[in-house]
Amino acid sequence: MGITYSAEAIPSIGHIIEVYESSGINRPTGNLARMEKMYANANLVVTAWHNDLLVGIARSLTDFCHSCYLADLAVRKEYQSKGVGKQLIALTREQIGHQTSLILLAAPAAINYYPKLGFHKIDNGYIIPREG
Ligand SMILES: CC(C)(COP(=O)(O)OP(=O)(O)OC[C@H]1O[C@@H](n2cnc3c(N)ncnc32)[C@H](O)[C@@H]1OP(=O)(O)O)[C@@H](O)C(=O)NCCC(=O)NCCS
Repeated sequence: MGITYSAEAIPSIGHIIEVYESSGINRPTGNLARMEKMYANANLVVTAWHNDLLVGIARSLTDFCHSCYLADLAVRKEYQSKGVGKQLIALTREQIGHQTSLILLAAPAAINYYPKLGFHKIDNGYIIPREG
């Protein structure tokens, strides 16, 4: 399957929502304004394409020199378990460079996914959860 990857392409919010909903990721896809704001304020978006079809996306917030928070990773249902998520993370890592930590919160269904890609589980993380 010829999948191409980009750190420059900006998909439409409609196509992003389509991928999120197909993937099963739990994000506020019913709130267009909030989704638009999530993308307007992200500064690293890596995408996967099958021809013109958006099949996967990784959205991060980073300073490109010390820390990167991988906020969302989603792959269209029919394209899951074909290495797309792995490549999206590889390209994200390439963009942020070796001096930058990549940090994320795993969804329950993906807890066992990230160790396969080289992520270490940490016990010194803290969070103030969002309300709503
Ligand atoms: C989780 C997700 C991003 C993984 O992307 P993907 O393209 O399907 O996964 P990959 O093909 O890169 O998988 C790489 C390896 O991890 C395994 N894997 C895939 N999904 C997994 C999961 N949820 N749990 C454990 N292992 C998983 C694959 O089988 C593969 O193993 P292999 O190299 O031994 O064959 C994707 O399945 C998805 O969008 N899931 C729903 C949304 C979600 O949970 N997002 C994460 C939010 S934190």
